[in-house]
Amino acid sequence: MGLLNSDQRKLELVVQSGLLLAKNLDLQTIVQAATDAGLELCGAQFGAFFYNVLDKHGERYALYTLSGVAREKFAKFPMPRNTGVFAPTFEGTGIVRSADITKDPRYGQNAPYKGMPEGHLPVRSYLAVPVKASSGEVLGGLFYGHEEAGIFELECEELLAMVAAQAAAAIENVRLREQLTRKIADLEKSKLNLMNVSGHVTALAAIVESSDDVILSKDLNGRITSWNQAAVQIFGFSKEEMVGRPIFDLVPAHLHEEERAILGRIRNGEKLENYETLRLSKDGRTLHVDLGISPLRDSSGAVVGSSSILRDLTRRKNMEKALIQAEKLAAAGRMAATIAHEINNPLEAVLNLVFLIKTNAANSSQVLAYAEDAETELIRIAHLARQTLGFYREHSAVALISISSLVADVLRIYGPRCKTVGALVKASLNSEARLVLRTGEMMQVISNLIINAIYAMPDGGDLSVTVEDIMKDDGPAVRLSIEDTGCGIPHQHRERIFEPFFTTRHTIGTGIGLFIARQFVEGHGGTIEFETSTDPSGHGTCFSIVLPQQTVYADILLDSQLNRSVRF
Ligand SMILES: Nc1ncnc2c1ncn2[C@@H]1O[C@H](COP(=O)(O)OP(=O)(O)OP(=O)(O)O)[C@@H](O)[C@H]1O
Ligand SMILES: [Mg+2]
Repeated sequence: MGLLNSDQRKLELVVQSGLLLAKNLDLQTIVQAATDAGLELCGAQFGAFFYNVLDKHGERYALYTLSGVAREKFAKFPMPRNTGVFAPTFEGTGIVRSADITKDPRYGQNAPYKGMPEGHLPVRSYLAVPVKASSGEVLGGLFYGHEEAGIFELECEELLAMVAAQAAAAIENVRLREQLTRKIADLEKSKLNLMNVSGHVTALAAIVESSDDVILSKDLNGRITSWNQAAVQIFGFSKEEMVGRPIFDLVPAHLHEEERAILGRIRNGEKLENYETLRLSKDGRTLHVDLGISPLRDSSGAVVGSSSILRDLTRRKNMEKALIQAEKLAAAGRMAATIAHEINNPLEAVLNLVFLIKTNAANSSQVLAYAEDAETELIRIAHLARQTLGFYREHSAVALISISSLVADVLRIYGPRCKTVGALVKASLNSEARLVLRTGEMMQVISNLIINAIYAMPDGGDLSVTVEDIMKDDGPAVRLSIEDTGCGIPHQHRERIFEPFFTTRHTIGTGIGLFIARQFVEGHGGTIEFETSTDPSGHGTCFSIVLPQQTVYADILLDSQLNRSVRF
C-alpha cells in the first residue's frame, strides 16, 4: 500500500477510525482498528499493536494485533521486551521514528537475538508510538515497519499520535466499563448476601417468636430490649409493657442481689446455663424457671447486653409434687388396705372366740382354751400395729448399749423357734463398743432380719450372726451381719425387697419389715445392705448393718442426761 497523498483522505481516516474506536466496546476490535488505521495512515508494510490487558482478577498480561501481515509470521516470536529500541515506547517516553532502524545505535544491543530474531520480517523503516492513558499509564504501543529505508515522514508521527490517543481513550472506555460491570456484579452479590442475611434474620425472628421458651434480651443495666410471644404467655406482660422495663420487675425481691450478681457475670462475658431460680408473673404468681443466659456482643466483640432463654418449670414442679403426693396417697391406701385386711382376720377370729366363750361359759377348761386362742390373735394384731403404726418408735428411748448385747437379747427370744425349724445359730458377738441407740427400733430391726432368715430356711440350715468393730473413712463403726443358708432372693425381687408391702410371704408377712428396718438404720446414720445367692450349690442371704459408733442420737442422749427426764 502506498503513502496517502491526500491530507483530506488522511483526516477522514483519522476521524473515521476515531468514530469506530469510540463506539466499539470490544478491546480486540478496537486495537485491530487502530493498528489498521495506523498502517494505512503512515503507509507501512506491517504494523502491530502490543497492549496490556487486565484479566478478571485485575492481573496484567500482554496481547497483540497485527496488520498487513499474517499472524503466523509473528506467532513463533516472543513478545518484544522493554529493552533498547522498544524502551521509549513501553515506558511511554516518546515516539521512535527511524529511517533505518538497523543503523540505530540502540539496535542489536540485547541478547539473545542482537537485533531481529532469525526469520523475522525484514524491517528498515521503523515507527513506534506509545499508547498512553490520560493518567499517563502506558496501555501499549503501536509499531510499524517497512522493508525499505526512509518510508515514514515526520507527518506520520502526528497522525499516529492521534490514532494512539483515540485508541487510548477507547481502551480506557472499555476498562472503565469493565470496572463498572465488576462493581455492579459485586454490588449485586452483596445485595444478594444482604437479602440472604435479611432472610436469615427474618427466619430467626420467626423462630424466636414461635419458641415455646421465653426468649428475651436485655442491656447491661438489665433493661429489657426484646420480649417474645412465649414471654407474653408465661409472664402475662405484653411486649409494649415490658420492652424498656428493668428485669428486676420480674425478679422476687429476695433474689434481686442474685440478679445483680448474674448481670455482673454477663458483663464479664460469662455464660449461665441450667440455672434454676424464681420469677414473678404479672398476676403475682411465683414461677419456677430454668435460665440460660449468654452475653450479646457488638461487632468489636464488646459485651453490650445479654440474651436469656427461660423455661417455665412451674408446671413440671407442680406435676412432680402431684406425683409424689399421689404416690404417698397410693402408699397410704395400700397400707390402710393391708392393715384392714391383716387386722380384720384376727379380729374376726377373736369375735368368734368371744362368742364361743359366752356360749360355753360353764365349761371353764374350754373357755380357757378359747381365751388363749383369742390372746394369740390379739398379740398378732398388736404386733401388726407395732410394725405398721410405729408403736415401737413412739416408745423407743435412747440408751448407750452394745449391739452385741441387743443381738444376744433377740437371739434369746428366737432361740427356741430356731431350734424347732432346725436352724443352727452361730453367734460371734465380738464388739464391745457401746452406741447411743433407740433400743426398741434396733430390736425390731434385728428381730425382723432373724425372722426373715428363719422363714428362708424352712428345712433348717445355718444362721450366723456376727457383730464386729470396723474402721470406716468417717470413723469407727460396728457391723452386724445376719447370714442364712436359706433359699436366697431371686434376681427379680432384689430391687424391691425394701419397698413397703413387698412380700413373698403373703399369708404371714406384711412386707414392711425391711422397709422399716432401713428407715430405722438410716435414722441412726447407718446403712443396710445385702448379698444373696439362689445358686443351688451355695444359696443363702447375708444382711449387713453398719452403724457409726457416734450415732446421730449421741447428742440427744447427752441432752437428755442433762435434762434427766426426756423420753423419745
Ligand atoms: N433372708 C431372706 N431370705 C430370702 N428372702 C428374704 C430374706 N429376707 C427378706 N426376704 C424377702 O424379702 C421380702 C420382704 O421382706 P420384709 O421383711 O420386708 O417383709 P416380710 O418378711 O415379707 O413381711 P414382714 O412385714 O412381716 O417382715 C420377703 O417377703 C422375702 O421375699
Ligand atoms: Mg420380714
